[in-house]
Amino acid sequence: MYSLSEEPLITRPQIDERLKELAESIKAENFDMFLSTLTGGFMFTADLCRNIASSKLEIEFIRASSYGDRTETSGDVEISGFEGLNIQGKKVLLIDDILDTGNTMSKMKKTLLALGPREIKTCVFLDKKGRREVDFEADFVGFTIENEFVVGYGLDYANMFRSYPEIWTVRETDGK
Ligand code: IMP
Ligand code: MG
Repeated sequence: MYSLSEEPLITRPQIDERLKELAESIKAENFDMFLSTLTGGFMFTADLCRNIASSKLEIEFIRASSYGDRTETSGDVEISGFEGLNIQGKKVLLIDDILDTGNTMSKMKKTLLALGPREIKTCVFLDKKGRREVDFEADFVGFTIENEFVVGYGLDYANMFRSYPEIWTVRETDGK
């Protein structure tokens, strides 16, 4: 069982304002490609694209999964979708929803670096700094949050709440 916070942790106006600032700094770097991580990164990536609107920007997706149906990570990260991806010589922005233990982002970045890009930078919408297990910092961060499980804006709890347009907090209540 779970319960959802009564108010959003991060509201839509706060997200929209931060998106504009982020888009401005990202645009200045002239990336060739946004490489977005499914499923959680889809809404953030779409909003970033809308705020950047560059004719030459390529958009690609890979998939990473580490969570089961609960709020604790399983630790093993499965990454797929690299087949046929051409990032050779390109400046790539790797995008994900949230940086938690850091395992997912650091594994994805390592795998991508082996494919010969000119440069890889990373961008996450949320950063739970207090949960890091591997040494990893993103180049662009939307918001830094406390160690709470959050949903909405692409992020899920057991595949629920992804379509909520703002960020909410979820607590597991263990059958109560
Ligand atoms: P990491 O490998 O521990 O950094 O975990 C990153 C992945 O775990 C993210 O891409 C999310 O899919 C998922 N995740 C971590 N924290 C949360 C959360 O609070 N809500 C929803 N998903 C989360
Ligand atoms: Mg994810």
